[in-house]
Amino acid sequence: MEPTITPLDATFGATVTDVDLAHMDEATWQRVEDAFHEFAVLIFPGQDLSDDAQVSFANRFGEIELLRGDPAAKAVAISNAKQDGSVLQPGEHRYQALRGNEGWHTDSSYMPLAAKASVLSAQVVPSAGGETAWADMRAAYDALDKDKKERIDGLSAYHSLYQSQAKIGHIVKTGAGYGYHNKGAPLRPLVKTHPVTGRKSLFIGRHAYRISGMDDNEAKSLLDDLLDFACQPPRTYTHNWRPGDVVIWDNRCVLHGARPYDYGETRIMRHTRVAGDPASELAPTGRDERASGFEPSASNM
Ligand code: OGA
Ligand code: MN
Repeated sequence: MEPTITPLDATFGATVTDVDLAHMDEATWQRVEDAFHEFAVLIFPGQDLSDDAQVSFANRFGEIELLRGDPAAKAVAISNAKQDGSVLQPGEHRYQALRGNEGWHTDSSYMPLAAKASVLSAQVVPSAGGETAWADMRAAYDALDKDKKERIDGLSAYHSLYQSQAKIGHIVKTGAGYGYHNKGAPLRPLVKTHPVTGRKSLFIGRHAYRISGMDDNEAKSLLDDLLDFACQPPRTYTHNWRPGDVVIWDNRCVLHGARPYDYGETRIMRHTRVAGDPASELAPTGRDERASGFEPSASNM
């Protein structure tokens, strides 16, 4: 059976049916990989993958990024439910991390090695809200006028999870929160060339907070303007999840974010992250050592 690939009503993305992700032959996998490069976001309704099958699927794209540095954590829950069945409360660290996920972002761009791709599947969904949205940064770059392209060409921004959490009022002290991320913020070009397709895209999002060689206020307004412009139709798609759906996105050229929902209801997603290839996803130059941990700065709030 050939997979059926139906483009979304947007500049990117496709729904893929007539495929069983847990049992793909080589020809089918090739179709899926080609579609991933062409569409950047692939929606697979009703797959109902097990944990292991999700990890195996992600593993076809590359090595799994070990979240929290834990070899066992290949598929992690993104959930507002706790072990005892109660839901997270606003004072809790994980609650703030989930709220942070509601901003447009890239996965792991604040790490020295950014992610290649992420796989997300739905287990339990709330009765309203809780969708996930994606935005096409290739089409966003293409849509910029010539002056804007010239202005940003050659600029690089620092990426930090401390800074993006601080923007939503979640203050994490150095060493107290993101252990893997205490050595300064990586610097990444605003315009990224895709290692496979060669297409240019904007590499921005909530973790980007300061531009090398630019006044901080000017950088903030440039980054905010670019993000506002980029994440508009027809460059966006919002997926209304049903349990069993699986989505993979190319973290090198799309942004994503969760949509809010009533945290009184439970939402359980399963996430698997594919590590970036160091040849293309390793932050090229120096770090912002001043950004080790949270550092109050009026322009970043
Ligand atoms: C993620 C993420 C958003 C969501 O899995 O990386 O940002 O909708 N998820 O849960
Ligand atoms: Mn994410």
